[in-house]
Amino acid sequence: MISLNFANVMEEVVGEKGLSEREMEALRGKGQEALGQMLQRKWPELAFLDLPDGDTEEIKDVALRIKDDSESFLILGIGGSALGPKAILEALSPFHNLRKTPKVFIYDNVDPRSLTGILSVVDLKKTTVNVITKSGSTAETVASFMILWEEMEKVLGKKMTGRIVATTDPEKGNLREIARRYGLASLPIPPGVGGRYSVLSPVGLLLAEVIGVDSRELLKGARDMRQRCLEEDLWKNPALLLSFVLYLLSTEAGRNIDVIIPYADGLRPFSEWFCQLWAESLGKLGMGLTPYPSVGTTDQHSQLQLWVEGPEDKVVIFVRTEDYGVDIKIPHIFEDMEGLGYLCGRSLSELIKAEEESSELALAKAGRPNLTVHMPAIDAYHLGQLFIFFEITTALTGFLLGVNPFNQPGVEEGKRYTYGMMGRAGYEERRLEVEAAREKKLCWRI
Ligand code: PA5
Repeated sequence: MISLNFANVMEEVVGEKGLSEREMEALRGKGQEALGQMLQRKWPELAFLDLPDGDTEEIKDVALRIKDDSESFLILGIGGSALGPKAILEALSPFHNLRKTPKVFIYDNVDPRSLTGILSVVDLKKTTVNVITKSGSTAETVASFMILWEEMEKVLGKKMTGRIVATTDPEKGNLREIARRYGLASLPIPPGVGGRYSVLSPVGLLLAEVIGVDSRELLKGARDMRQRCLEEDLWKNPALLLSFVLYLLSTEAGRNIDVIIPYADGLRPFSEWFCQLWAESLGKLGMGLTPYPSVGTTDQHSQLQLWVEGPEDKVVIFVRTEDYGVDIKIPHIFEDMEGLGYLCGRSLSELIKAEEESSELALAKAGRPNLTVHMPAIDAYHLGQLFIFFEITTALTGFLLGVNPFNQPGVEEGKRYTYGMMGRAGYEERRLEVEAAREKKLCWRI
């Protein structure tokens, strides 16, 4: 079971810049109210809490067929429709494309260079495309889908429809309509589940099965962790506790930047997944907490200096891996050299864990609050726990801040300008606005 160590945010450990039990207790009422919103399902978007109870039979069947007849599996999606699958892929099947088939490509941008690159290395006759969009209308995803549709039709003719899986709303949207019209295989993203909370739906689970991960393990982990994160007692509920700590350190100490630093290369995309969840859920109404993605030990030699001695505006969240599943001994060579000899016979996992603990301590000694999430192992069970833990923490923090953690109105505005520029009917005024802004920009270009 993953656990949270919060000693290094308490004043007993980090001194006056830390939190006291009294401060935490004083927030109890607000915390109960936040948790109550969750327990009473005050928001339809809390449907993400039910995902761990989902049935995986249909997903397994679709994945079996893909594994059987595909050399490549290409995901088209963006934001919540891509970051979850990426996190699962890197954590649970590192170097996947060098070791296994189907090879996996996740195209989550509209950079023509990347798509050209993908098209140059996959054989579309043996590729399954999984287009993922909840709304069915995100410009980036539908544009790349239209391109793939035409390219596949060129090589496969009408048979190409058998090589597309649509993951989308069960009833609504353009993609659902296309799936119906052409009889595409499709998987539903349950109503109410927003993009960034959807990793434990077919959005992430199909990819998991395609790369050989039992999706039931992800869900089992999430179920076990959900139980702990809905516990009413603050001191037993790690999600409530983490949301209290980050909320208090932000509102009372101006620590508005939350660094996430897993000590495992495979969890680097997990950092990115967390950053989207945290930023898009909490950044609104002039409030919010800024996420900062990182990875240890790499960033100790890049960022740690800033965190220890720079502005006092950060909280560092370590994700410590207890068991890497494999290990490598450092050989007994150069033993006579003082700067190398001490490493002889030790192992890489000992070293990385020592580095993580040292960074925690260095920060604490400098009076910089930090917390550690202990991850027993990087496997499906514990990754499922990590996902639901941070999803529940995010929603609770949103409730504490008094913002809606499920919408993203700021993103929508940008989308409307893009529609205007790309000529979508009904967005003509947006286009005029963009053109006026361009005029203004001309005067300031050097
Ligand atoms: O979290 C969200 O809701 C967003 O990041 C969406 O996932 C993203 O905008 C893509 O949306 P859609 O799945 O509708 O294409």
